[in-house]
Amino acid sequence: MKIFNDPKTLQSFSEMLRLQEKRIGFVPTMGALHDGHLSLVKIAKSRADVVVMSIFVNPLQFGKAEDFGKYPRPFERDVELARFAGVDILFAPSAEALYGQGFQSFVEVEHVSKGFEGAIRPTHFRGVATVVLKLFNLTKPHVAVFGEKDAQQLTLIRRMATDLNLDVEIIGAPIVREPDGLAMSSRNVYLTSEQRKEATVLYRALMQAKSQLDAGERNVDVLKMLVTRTIQASPTALIDYVDIVDDDAFSPATSLQSGKSYFLILAVRLGEVRLLDNLHFSA
Ligand code: PAF
Repeated sequence: MKIFNDPKTLQSFSEMLRLQEKRIGFVPTMGALHDGHLSLVKIAKSRADVVVMSIFVNPLQFGKAEDFGKYPRPFERDVELARFAGVDILFAPSAEALYGQGFQSFVEVEHVSKGFEGAIRPTHFRGVATVVLKLFNLTKPHVAVFGEKDAQQLTLIRRMATDLNLDVEIIGAPIVREPDGLAMSSRNVYLTSEQRKEATVLYRALMQAKSQLDAGERNVDVLKMLVTRTIQASPTALIDYVDIVDDDAFSPATSLQSGKSYFLILAVRLGEVRLLDNLHFSA
């Protein structure tokens, strides 16, 4: 596995791979790798000749009061995991190297970035869209794989790729869960052992909604109420939002149309920790 820190070196290498007609698969990450990230690598490997992973804790997507400073950065461990997963090129730039002096160009994806995570973290998605476009320009991928756990981010990247005619296929990868159902996330390490136990309520709530969907329930308010009540019954969990959105525009649905796909999304606070989860389903 090659490790590059310099953006220009990666860009030249990607250009050379393209000239050699190699298919490039890209997995962008902020490190603190877990099995969810490794599942993205597996998908990228099945779709490309060369897999590039980036590890970059992007300052642009963190608000001032957020966890940029304490975000886990176990770099040596990440290198070993990436190597073991079969990553060919690991790109780990510094913020100075990636953004340079005088940086002032940003990507706004107007509608998708506004609600839910965007309402709570107003500059988050412009930071995500900007860094992902920069990483695409350096990596020149044919395919890029993003986890469905961050469903709004995935929808936003798809919108950006369509709107800006990016020549890259965006693949959404299913959520990878712990044995008790908690969606894997680099931020799960922030949970105390009590909160970790309580965190399974998100999955239980989603599974209750899934049973109702499987039984034919199609009323959006009934499904949302079911999830809300289950989470509210948990001792300390506080709901930021529970909603059902279509999976192309991320607009809240008032009714479910047969044949269309949706995300049942939720964000829950356990103390200081915010957890996101969702259920992707077809009506
Ligand atoms: O999902 C993440 O880890 C980040 O938002 C991403 C896509 C790597 C951009 O910094």
